[in-house]
Amino acid sequence: MEHKPISKAVIARLPRYYRHLGELMEEGVERISSNDLSQRMNVTASQIRQDLNNFGGFGQQGYGYNVKYLYTEIAKIMGVDRQHNLVIIGAGNLGQAIANYANFERRGFMIKGMFDVNPRLIGRVVRGVEILGVEELEKFIVDNQVQIAALTIPKTKAPEIAERLVAAGIKAIWNFAHTDLVVPEDVVVENVHLSESLMRLSYRVCRMQDQKEEQASKKGRPERKQLS
Ligand code: NAI
Repeated sequence: MEHKPISKAVIARLPRYYRHLGELMEEGVERISSNDLSQRMNVTASQIRQDLNNFGGFGQQGYGYNVKYLYTEIAKIMGVDRQHNLVIIGAGNLGQAIANYANFERRGFMIKGMFDVNPRLIGRVVRGVEILGVEELEKFIVDNQVQIAALTIPKTKAPEIAERLVAAGIKAIWNFAHTDLVVPEDVVVENVHLSESLMRLSYRVCRMQDQKEEQASKKGRPERKQLS
């Protein structure tokens, strides 16, 4: 199936559709209307129709969306119907937490190897994956057809490792190190910064508090006037 170019905003929303559709399948739901999906996902039905129209209109008037079909098509678009081999560079707290999360495999992300410089970590096994010395990185990437590398090392070390990864043929970097990486055009980088997400949360919670205080002070004003 051919797809017209899809905007980044829609692509960013697809994982959420995918998750909800997966849950619907688990619940045995075979089809769903844009209205029901909209209620479930707390977005407008028109947004859902617009987003899903990008793929040639999976919905049918009076029938709704075929959940399994939509789930499969989104999986194809996101590339999670294929297997992606992944390595983790930096087997510390974060690297091990990622390796311990089994659900990535269900999405086709197979953690093939972990690498570190710390001799105390090398040789340890995390969920069946042995931590190797970082000097073995290049050969391992080629031998195991690794496409994606998760970078969970200090930011000062990240540029050098990224360069080595690219030279070894890595096509995508899942970057947790707090630095902007410079890579060739044919390599994609997805930055994940939990602290930025927390800052966005902080912004929203502060705005909410400010609004409440503003409303309270507006309500309070007339009373104060009456008192004076
Ligand atoms: P950690 O200190 O537990 O683990 C870092 C590991 O990287 C260590 O085992 C260390 O030996 C290894 N390492 C250092 N240089 C290396 C190199 N050149 N090659 C391979 N391994 C190397 O730290 P933690 O908590 O796991 O955090 C890792 C990084 O991720 C830090 O830079 C931290 O700031 C960042 N981080 C980012 C988050 C995000 O949301 N983006 C969240 C938490 C941490």
